[in-house]
Amino acid sequence: MNHFEYRGGALCCEDVKLADIADAVGTPAYVYSTATLERHYDVFRSAFAPRDVLVAFAVKANANIAVLATLARKGAGADTVSQGEIERALKAGVPPDKIIFSGVGKTEAELAFAVQTGVHQINVESIAELETLARIAWALKKKPAIAIRVNPDVGAGGHEKISTGKGDAKFGVSPEQALALYARATDDKNLDSKGLAVHIGSQIRDLSPLEAAFRVMRSLAEKLRGEGIAIERLDLGGGLGVPYFNEPDPPAPAEYAAMVERVFAGFDIKLSFEPGRMIAANAGVLIARVVRLQDRPRPIVVLDAAMNDLIRPAIYDAYHGIKPARETNAPKQAYDVVGPICETGDTFTRNRMLPPLEEGDLVAFMTAGAYGAVMASTYNARALVPEVLVRGDRFELVRRRWEVAEQLTLEKLPPWLEEA
Ligand code: LLP
Repeated sequence: MNHFEYRGGALCCEDVKLADIADAVGTPAYVYSTATLERHYDVFRSAFAPRDVLVAFAVKANANIAVLATLARKGAGADTVSQGEIERALKAGVPPDKIIFSGVGKTEAELAFAVQTGVHQINVESIAELETLARIAWALKKKPAIAIRVNPDVGAGGHEKISTGKGDAKFGVSPEQALALYARATDDKNLDSKGLAVHIGSQIRDLSPLEAAFRVMRSLAEKLRGEGIAIERLDLGGGLGVPYFNEPDPPAPAEYAAMVERVFAGFDIKLSFEPGRMIAANAGVLIARVVRLQDRPRPIVVLDAAMNDLIRPAIYDAYHGIKPARETNAPKQAYDVVGPICETGDTFTRNRMLPPLEEGDLVAFMTAGAYGAVMASTYNARALVPEVLVRGDRFELVRRRWEVAEQLTLEKLPPWLEEA
């Protein structure tokens, strides 16, 4: 369910026509719906009621501070993987005690920053990281809350590049190592051992791998308690998929929550989750204009958006629905849809059936609110795509377009070229 629909023939985000946004801010641009963001958070959170769970939105999916603040006001925490993401979450008003810090390559400076910030939990991914963190904590005279990230050796996810839970993936430690590491951390007076964490992949469309991973987590927690070692939290990660096109819908949050209740029935432990895509994907679109049509047996539509603005089709062969901003009943025809960048990878889709398109037409890439703007770049010396947040009949440019002239202020000639 989302809040992008045709009204009177015009594709709208809530009560605002996408065409009006395009006129005001130009294209390409990302447009997010507050109502969809809030609804997805509420649906996910309430699926677990009355259990008191921490829903830490995965900032990597959409890091705009207006999006984060929208979710923070609903009570969401933040799952972060860099100091930058922690800074964004704090700026958006996420309380430190709702921030989770994960990632395999946290630097010493980042760990120190997280410790000083007093985040809810640092998810430790290796023995070496645990040792570094203990040293930092000792030096700073703090006792950070930690969880050990388990690699349960369960494969899942919509694409091999976004699967994280197989034994040979770079994430976490094996279940056996996790037990040893957790016991060791518990003995360390510089660390506050709270629990274990897991995340097996993204765009997961089937509950069974998640259930298998969660069963591993429960049995590890039981083993620890059996040995008299206290454990109060399990972080179950993100990963629930969203519908990108006409295929069977992924499991609803209610089914996911029912599975979680099944796995953890009769087991008293605090749970947290790190959903990204399922909160933000359907809450955003990328709007773009047709620059030109190339006359071919199958016409090529060249847009003003490119792979630098939405890279998912280029790197994951991802499918995004494309809708014209003006509704029409005209018969569809097959098109290739591309951007202006100088490589064939800058192709959004081939042989897609779309209503007739003409130069200047506005289109929207659907389901682009997660892993869209955050993965955008300035490749081909293009401006960085702006972001707009809609609420009811209002909209605001929440990240302005970063024009090339501004980008150029970061660069300079070295003295030997100036001298010439
Ligand atoms: N927690 C951890 C530790 C993660 O690594 C991720 C995603 C999440 C939570 C959130 O997962 P979600 O609920 O969004 O599935 N760029 C890719 C997706 C990469 C996901 C990486 N990790 C894409 O565009 O599909």
